[in-house]
Amino acid sequence: MRAMIDLRSDTITRPTPAMLAAMSSAPLGDDVLGDDPTVIALERRCAALAGKEAAVFVPSGTMANLIAISVHTRPGDEVVLHEHAHPFLYEAGGASAYAGAQLRTVAGPRGVMTPDALMAAIRPYGDPHFPRSRLLCLEDTHNRGGGKIQPLENTDKLCAIARSAGMATHLDGARVLNAVVASGEPLERRARDFDTVSFCFSKGLGCPAGSILCGPKDAIAEGRRVRKRLGGAMRQAGVLAGAALHALEHHVARLEEDHRRARETAMGLMIDGFQIEMPETNILQVDVPDAPAFVERLREHGVSCFAIGPGRLRLVFHLDVGDEAVDGVIRAFGAARKG
Ligand SMILES: Cc1ncc(COP(=O)(O)O)c(C=O)c1O
Repeated sequence: MRAMIDLRSDTITRPTPAMLAAMSSAPLGDDVLGDDPTVIALERRCAALAGKEAAVFVPSGTMANLIAISVHTRPGDEVVLHEHAHPFLYEAGGASAYAGAQLRTVAGPRGVMTPDALMAAIRPYGDPHFPRSRLLCLEDTHNRGGGKIQPLENTDKLCAIARSAGMATHLDGARVLNAVVASGEPLERRARDFDTVSFCFSKGLGCPAGSILCGPKDAIAEGRRVRKRLGGAMRQAGVLAGAALHALEHHVARLEEDHRRARETAMGLMIDGFQIEMPETNILQVDVPDAPAFVERLREHGVSCFAIGPGRLRLVFHLDVGDEAVDGVIRAFGAARKG
């Protein structure tokens, strides 16, 4: 049987032998007691990378977002975010269930919110009828936006508007290192105007688990309390932090390979007449008639991916697929179209 080209997500990667070696040799302690040296090293490294004072290591991107929302809001406050933002679509309603926050969504092309749309969503200040607009949450790159990189000039404007309205700002940067590599703008710059920024090790960076939340010392100290409350404080977490440190060293620059493969596949599919959105990073979206049936036919031809709508497929390039995926995907789409 032909090996499957699995493009369902960049979360499916397995740790490389070198990553496993880094994990097994990581010095360990008890991170809940604050003495796991590998976690401490990772948190310091990430805080420096993001240009923030402090960082806290957490099990998942979902928990990083929930902690950020909990730290920045009080129950009944409103979070303004894009209508396709991850915390709104895919985090099981955690922001409402656990932080008591109300989510106010804003439309915009490929996950990008315009300044006018943000201004229109902010509640009038001081009127007791309204919830307090308390947090702006952006996503970079934008998952449902097909790995769209947030345009920095626009981000700068959005953060300035939020700040002048007395709102805090959080960047869900699950894949922000993809944006860093593709744009050439360092994380410190991309995260500059945000109070907090999170990013994931378990996506393009190839780790089995783990995310980080970076921000001011007091917000991160409070975030540690929320992490504990949520049951996300881990003991010998250095095993996972060791994987993350290895990934920061060896798996960041190579993200460009994923972006190149996504672009090359997109070009091939476009030449073959498929409707695509040109990818900016590692996520490629393709429009097909009857996406669920197309997914089944692609599987028969050796490619696994998800339908993200009735007529749209998502393919995510990652560490565990190589150059052979480009031709393999183009061939499989041609065959699947024939039936
Ligand atoms: C943009 C974004 N934020 C947050 C998350 C949540 O990460 P996790 O799956 O680690 O909870 C994801 C996961 O795909 C994501 O794409």
